[in-house]
Amino acid sequence: MSVRDTIPCCTKIFVAPCIWAWLRCSTCPHDIRNKALVSEAERIIGLYRHHAQALAQNRGDRLIETAWLDHFINLLPSRATVLDLGCGSGRPIDRYLTEHGCKITGVDSSPEIIAMCKDALAGVEWVVADMRALSLGQTFDGVLAWDSFFHLNHDDQRRMFSTVRQHAAPQAVLMFTSGPRDGEAIGSYKGEPLYHASLDPEEYRRLLTENGFQVEAHVN
Ligand SMILES: C[S@@+](CC[C@H](N)C(=O)[O-])C[C@H]1O[C@@H](n2cnc3c(N)ncnc32)[C@H](O)[C@@H]1O
Repeated sequence: MSVRDTIPCCTKIFVAPCIWAWLRCSTCPHDIRNKALVSEAERIIGLYRHHAQALAQNRGDRLIETAWLDHFINLLPSRATVLDLGCGSGRPIDRYLTEHGCKITGVDSSPEIIAMCKDALAGVEWVVADMRALSLGQTFDGVLAWDSFFHLNHDDQRRMFSTVRQHAAPQAVLMFTSGPRDGEAIGSYKGEPLYHASLDPEEYRRLLTENGFQVEAHVN
């Protein structure tokens, strides 16, 4: 019996490309580098809370992901329910999905960001929660994690696939962004370190298969 036979949610998945530089510090001893990266990963939630207004302003209303979102929408049933993990300000992505008939549940760890969502977009369920501990007791036709998984460390990302599976209705569609290969990278926002990580595409594939997903498209 294959893994998929044992799992009721046969799910399509897109992995969209993500453009950011991978940094490897060849001069740092491995353990020191790892400790530094772990603490940067832990600071992500605080950083987004602290800079909520600025981040929403920077994101603005310019939608550059239309092609991806249209692919996603085309795979969904009409009036689909969509769980957006790390939804940010809800603009412009959740607004676009709502305009296309989706019923959104947006989850973000920042109460400041969710407060902005409530002001900006009606008819959406907004939830303040850490996606790593999410257990809504509901399933969705679509799950989106756009530029949000990549702020979780490797082990947290690995665990997210069973969390997604718990929230996925049969035939649900998952779309998320990742880096191009295994690694960690520190960007910068307003002078503060901004942590990113990615698993290797092969590991994503394995985790997806183990959790009942079929890869519909993976774009590098
Ligand atoms: C780069 S923003 C992307 C926002 C939105 N998806 C978009 O594309 O406009 C990353 C978002 O993920 C949220 N986030 C980071 N870690 C999270 C976590 N562990 N649980 C829930 N949200 C998280 C941040 O608060 C932030 O709003």
